[in-house]
Amino acid sequence: MKQIIEYIDKNKNNYINELKEFLKIPSISNDPNHKADIIKCAQFVKTKLVNAGLNKVKVIKTKGHPLVYGEWLKANGKPTVLIYGHYDVQPVDPIELWDNPPFEPIIKSNKIFARGATDDKGQAFMHIKSVEAFLKKTGKLPLNVKFIIEGEEEVGSSSLEQFIDENKKLLECDAVLISDTSLYDVGTPTLTYGLRGLAYMEVEVTGPKKDLHSGGFGGAVANPINILAGMINKLMDKNGKITIPTFYDDVAKLTKKERESFKKLKFSDKKFAKEINVAELKGEKGFSTLERLWVRPTLDCNGIIGGFTGDGAKTVLPSKVKAKISMRLVPNQDTKKIAKAFIKYIKSIAPKSVKVKVSDLHGANPSVTSLDDKSTIAASKAMEKAFGKKIVYVREGGSVPIVPVFAKKLNAPVVLMGLGLNTENLHSPNEHFNLDHFQLGIKSSAYFLEEFAK
Ligand code: BES
Ligand code: MN
Ligand code: MN
Repeated sequence: MKQIIEYIDKNKNNYINELKEFLKIPSISNDPNHKADIIKCAQFVKTKLVNAGLNKVKVIKTKGHPLVYGEWLKANGKPTVLIYGHYDVQPVDPIELWDNPPFEPIIKSNKIFARGATDDKGQAFMHIKSVEAFLKKTGKLPLNVKFIIEGEEEVGSSSLEQFIDENKKLLECDAVLISDTSLYDVGTPTLTYGLRGLAYMEVEVTGPKKDLHSGGFGGAVANPINILAGMINKLMDKNGKITIPTFYDDVAKLTKKERESFKKLKFSDKKFAKEINVAELKGEKGFSTLERLWVRPTLDCNGIIGGFTGDGAKTVLPSKVKAKISMRLVPNQDTKKIAKAFIKYIKSIAPKSVKVKVSDLHGANPSVTSLDDKSTIAASKAMEKAFGKKIVYVREGGSVPIVPVFAKKLNAPVVLMGLGLNTENLHSPNEHFNLDHFQLGIKSSAYFLEEFAK
């Protein structure tokens, strides 16, 4: 093992330079204009897997964006780990708020800045490099490895879900290893054992058939923006409880044990508020901030499009308005069931003066994994060795749609060994990845391969 770690240390700069090339490809999955970049990026991943020494590496076409697969299955009688990551990234807007162009990676204070740096190119790349270190240095791996790196995570992973359905044998494994979550704090080895799910809706409210002069019509006709604002407001009461009927029916109760374990993390509301520059935190009454972030469901309006938004004033009574509304879900809520309840309720609170159309954009189910599985124990040991510190267990508020699918359809435990930080601006301008964590992630991955092989 010592020689593997030394090899990883020696190659630090090479890893960073290769990651830069990865980050230069604008593989934005929700934008059809970037289709060619997505393909280029899948090819890039393929080349990296081949160079790492994996076998049967291929780019697999799907209805959506391609998947990249690779394997090394020569460790007879040893367990198999399936390593998952995503090469697609979020859009870059608002572009004017980036200090450097999002696809021209740059290093500042030991952090690499680019779209996808922490979510998830940097993190997915760590595993390719740890496997490569073993294969280059010793010609073999301590266990069997399969890679699946996809290009649709940020848009709901629907092609991968279908691929799993059709390729259960190919993907068969003893555990799934994923780095697409966060460390609790800088330098703290962390495993995430729960993620929230998501239901993402778009609500369109239409009033008059065209925009109207607000002097000639205002007062006589319902304004769709006013109406929609009122409807959104009705979705939550003054205690931060969501008012959709049946919404909380399946929410798992927080156990005393978990409540205690969250308390031990000594989360500072003050520090958190300061980081995002707000005077106070807010949310559902009766729960701590970590509880609200990790084990309670939420409802948020992500954006409203409609009416006059140009400079200066224009008096207009708009015809149409749209809102993007998402709900974060927790065990045992079901994304399809929640979407249905939302649609029914939002339609029921709309006045006759407007028409309402609702689309279910995408979703993900929530997940929790057991902390007693061999894979989790191996991952804890691995991270503790790499960091030289004691592991911390957390749940998180984000979603990785394929996690509950892997758990259910491959019947395998999922290990969430994230090396990102919630402060690394994922999905927002100036995304970056701490390069110490990048290097520690490669080592954690290498130690995991060794530990899980036992
Ligand atoms: N890697 C994130 C999820 C994440 C981030 C989990 C930080 C834990 C901590 C993932 O790429 C992501 O952004 N997921 C989306 C869901 C998707 C369906 C758009 C999300 O959570 O909004
Ligand atoms: Mn991600
Ligand atoms: Mn993301």
